[in-house]
Amino acid sequence: MMYSDRVIEHYRNPRNVGEVRDADGLGIYVSESCGDITKFWIRVEGGRIVEAKFKTQGCAASIASGSMLTGMVVGKTLEEAQKITKADVVLALNGLPEQKIHCSLLATDALKDAIYEYLGRKGLPISKELQEKHESVKPQIEKLKAMGYITI
Ligand code: FES
Repeated sequence: MMYSDRVIEHYRNPRNVGEVRDADGLGIYVSESCGDITKFWIRVEGGRIVEAKFKTQGCAASIASGSMLTGMVVGKTLEEAQKITKADVVLALNGLPEQKIHCSLLATDALKDAIYEYLGRKGLPISKELQEKHESVKPQIEKLKAMGYITI
């Protein structure tokens, strides 16, 4: 399995790892494929993401994806940020091995969950897609939390 130089560079020197203090939204996503977890924090001003950080309990590809995505979303409106797909992240990383493509989904879906949380906090309308995605992982997240499995 070969990683691109960019993936290796982001894995070795990940950007924006940690938590945003006084975040406006915190999202969490657990992979259906491997059970790994990513959390994503956003700070929003004037409808745009001005700061983004992440933590992951995942592999090198999930670290590189979180690192890349935090850089991609800053300056974007919430609508623009929601449209970023795993394919966009994979492209920005100059590709991922086929069996690692799903790892990029952790970051993009954790971002979507952070946007879901932000909209909920503000009492703003939440799209069906964001609602369904949140509801689909919630039981598993609660179960993992109760088991003490989530350490990030
Ligand atoms: Fe689980 Fe990569 S194998 S995130």
